[in-house]
Amino acid sequence: MPDPIKKKVTTIEFAAMKSRGEKITMLTAYDYLTASIFDQAGLDSILVGDSASNVMQGNANTLPITVDEMIVYARSVVRACKRAMVICDMPFGSYQISKTDALANAVRIMKETGADALKLEGGEEYLDVISGIIHAGIPVCGHLGLTPQSVKAFGGFGVRAKEDAEAEKLIRDLKMLENAGCFAVVLEKIPAALAARATAAVRIPIIGIGAGTEVDGQVLVGQDLLGYDPSFHPKFVRSYANLNKVITEAVQAYSADVKSKNFPGPNEQY
Ligand code: KIV
Repeated sequence: MPDPIKKKVTTIEFAAMKSRGEKITMLTAYDYLTASIFDQAGLDSILVGDSASNVMQGNANTLPITVDEMIVYARSVVRACKRAMVICDMPFGSYQISKTDALANAVRIMKETGADALKLEGGEEYLDVISGIIHAGIPVCGHLGLTPQSVKAFGGFGVRAKEDAEAEKLIRDLKMLENAGCFAVVLEKIPAALAARATAAVRIPIIGIGAGTEVDGQVLVGQDLLGYDPSFHPKFVRSYANLNKVITEAVQAYSADVKSKNFPGPNEQY
């Protein structure tokens, strides 16, 4: 278990962890208290994912969330993190329009949140944009495989790169992202054998989600790990708690106490 009092995890430390063969731990979080608990627990990195669109806002996908909304979530997480590296997603529409627009949004997110790095989806198609952001001194984590901002183009959230042509493109894209200067890349929902091959093909750390064990680290949505929604349980998720049950029981107990005038008690009032 990492020492929670250790210094802030940086991109240099990410690279060192890959060299040492030490797995990198990452979870998503979108609020101050949850991020504080994750940070104190010794997590290496927190991703303020655009999955906030689904998890925090109840949307069916990540497309609706805005830069303004991502900034509110990321700022709260940054305030909480003493050690964990905070990576903020650039949401759909914030880097697709032009290189200039993408750089302006990247700079704004960094200035207004204090995040340590940004994450963008896509390979060759976005190389110019990604290079521009990296040249401005902003660390960038790439994201290949199932890139949820392209869900409409993919026609769903199925496993990606099962066919040779898409698998070869993924490896090419990954090498381009490495050459452009990305400090890490997330690989989402691809065959484990391809993820293992990709991880061996580059020097930068590969963080997997639904990509098997032969990668340099793992990321999960925090709420999935904590068991908030038992109806959402894809194969790659392991829930380590059942907060849905814990919260339901707590709310039911509170409601029963209020209804029966058992709360507040004599020592819970002024
Ligand atoms: O937004 C997100 O939560 C992500 C992870 C699933 C990698 O991009």
